[in-house]
Amino acid sequence: MVHRPILIACLLTSSAESVWSQPWAIQPGLDDSSHQFVVDSESTRSPELESTLANGKTIFRHMIDALDVMQSHYYELWIGTWPSAIDWTAAVVNTALSSALGTIARASKETGDDQYSSVINKYFSHNAAYYFGEDAFSIRNEAYDDILWTTLEWLENIKTIEYRNSTNPSWHGVQFIPGFSHRARLFWDLASKGWDNDLCGGGMIWNPRLLPYKNTITNQLFISASVAMYLSSPGDSIDFPFLASDSQTFGAMPGRPHDPKYLKAAIEGYTWLKKSNMTNAQGLYVDGYHIKGYSQNGSIGTGKCDDRNEMIYTYNQGVILSGLRGLWEATGNRSYLDDGYDLIRDVMASTGWSWSGEPHSPIHKSSSWAGLGQYGIIEELCDRSGSCSQDSQTFKGIFFQHLTQFCEPLPLEAKVPGKTHAASRLLRTKHKDFCKTVGLWAAHNAEAALSTRDASGLFGTWWGYSYAAKTHPKSLPDRAVDYRNDASILTTSKWAHAGKSHSTAVTGRQAAESNGDFTTADVNDRGRGRTVETQQGGLSVLRSSWELLNLGSH
Ligand SMILES: *[C@@H]1O[C@H](CO)[C@@H](O)[C@H](O)[C@H]1NC(C)=O
Ligand SMILES: *[C@@H]1O[C@H](CO)[C@@H](O)[C@H](O)[C@H]1NC(C)=O
Ligand SMILES: *[C@@H]1O[C@H](CO)[C@@H](O)[C@H](O)[C@H]1NC(C)=O
Ligand SMILES: *[C@@H]1O[C@H](CO)[C@@H](O)[C@H](O)[C@H]1NC(C)=O
Repeated sequence: MVHRPILIACLLTSSAESVWSQPWAIQPGLDDSSHQFVVDSESTRSPELESTLANGKTIFRHMIDALDVMQSHYYELWIGTWPSAIDWTAAVVNTALSSALGTIARASKETGDDQYSSVINKYFSHNAAYYFGEDAFSIRNEAYDDILWTTLEWLENIKTIEYRNSTNPSWHGVQFIPGFSHRARLFWDLASKGWDNDLCGGGMIWNPRLLPYKNTITNQLFISASVAMYLSSPGDSIDFPFLASDSQTFGAMPGRPHDPKYLKAAIEGYTWLKKSNMTNAQGLYVDGYHIKGYSQNGSIGTGKCDDRNEMIYTYNQGVILSGLRGLWEATGNRSYLDDGYDLIRDVMASTGWSWSGEPHSPIHKSSSWAGLGQYGIIEELCDRSGSCSQDSQTFKGIFFQHLTQFCEPLPLEAKVPGKTHAASRLLRTKHKDFCKTVGLWAAHNAEAALSTRDASGLFGTWWGYSYAAKTHPKSLPDRAVDYRNDASILTTSKWAHAGKSHSTAVTGRQAAESNGDFTTADVNDRGRGRTVETQQGGLSVLRSSWELLNLGSH
């Protein structure tokens, strides 16, 4: 093994050797000379940034390792799925896989050779097999958020295929586009029925089988999926409906690209979300709202979103970011990007990270809990108590997935004149520089994530452990209900329809046993331990660092 210099955040790690220097498995064919990373000079530099940039090759290699381990350990090609995942987490994992292939394809283009062809082809076949492995019929009956992850999943696959086809003309993956596009469209149609104007003046309902709960995630997903449909759905002419009886509602009408109905839904969705008072004093999105006095006997109570759940989850800070990036591209309205920059700054600050942004100024990583982490490392509250459910184990990876999408370079020419917008040179540069400084934070998180790998290269969920183990467990914020980690809460009268049996979406979620025992040999083996969801987290944060630091030039 080649030993590399100690890198960022070494100030905080006690081990003499950085995790960056310990790739889990060196892949054949990935030798050190394969990448020349272009770093432009106008960006803000700090000593930490310099050393992280110098390490681009290693980040890339770790990303491929995380991907290889994810697929060899958790995927079963013979059934075309990750058997331990549940429907929605598998959709997220498949999205992360496809995005990683897009990143690898871009890196191959930079180096001018195609040494990763076999990696791309091999894992694209996993993507495509999951089109058939996915239980589309069961997802139809789940909550609206579950449905929307599926729309995002297949749109992301289409983006990757189109990119690959642009550099490798007539790439075999294009034959899947109509099918993928069809599923994305049908699921968007299904989810759009969750929009409701009777309560709270608009917004999506989370789960039709529970009392009305208008939550951040479903609304952010609807915005991001809608604008993604507008921008990247190529349309399809498959008119096979899911159920014959539904044929008039969905499936029967062919889809077309850049349908303005999607953009309209995204704009309305965001206008509502912005007015909904869904953010707290730190600028972070809380989880959602119940309606006071709403009950079974026909009373809609106040009809307003007035009973707020203060719970903070990482993914609620992420999904909207791809939507804001898309809304900017679809409308040219800069305020969407500005909202994204603000949210990202608030998230970084809530992990205790502060940096003036001035060249050579030191980064400060606060040792106090800052709302969403400490020492600059993002955490789910359940990470340190070892009580994360399958849902929560997926969240941090989702945050980085959407952060990365937000940071995609802004185009200087409209991709589809008349339908999409371009950036000025100045805006493009500002966006890139902003994202590069965020990349430093992402790389700090990637390093923390790498430190959780076990002997098989499996990532754990509590990235901050080696930095924060000596601090006390955190308690929930006031008036916060952590229903994502304790599914039994969803059977209480505040959440459930009286006298109705509970939905598949409730019973399908797995709560974790809490285990506060820090003396366990490996804290990341507590509770659900290492899973395909936590592997997806490791993969996503590595990819995010590489993309944000612009280690491949675009
Ligand atoms: C794929 O590439 C071929 C050859 O360049 C091109 O004709 C075709 O339109 C592309 N297909 C898609 C879906 O991008
Ligand atoms: C937003 O919600 C918080 C928490 O419920 C509440 O204290 C605050 O007054 C609300 N703000 C507005 C403008 O409604
Ligand atoms: C409906 O339920 C609410 C609260 O549960 C109660 O105050 C009200 O009297 C009920 N109305 C009817 C018509 O039963
Ligand atoms: C830009 O978007 C914001 C919503 O974020 C909206 O308030 C504003 O009116 C829009 N500006 C234009 C010119 O459409």
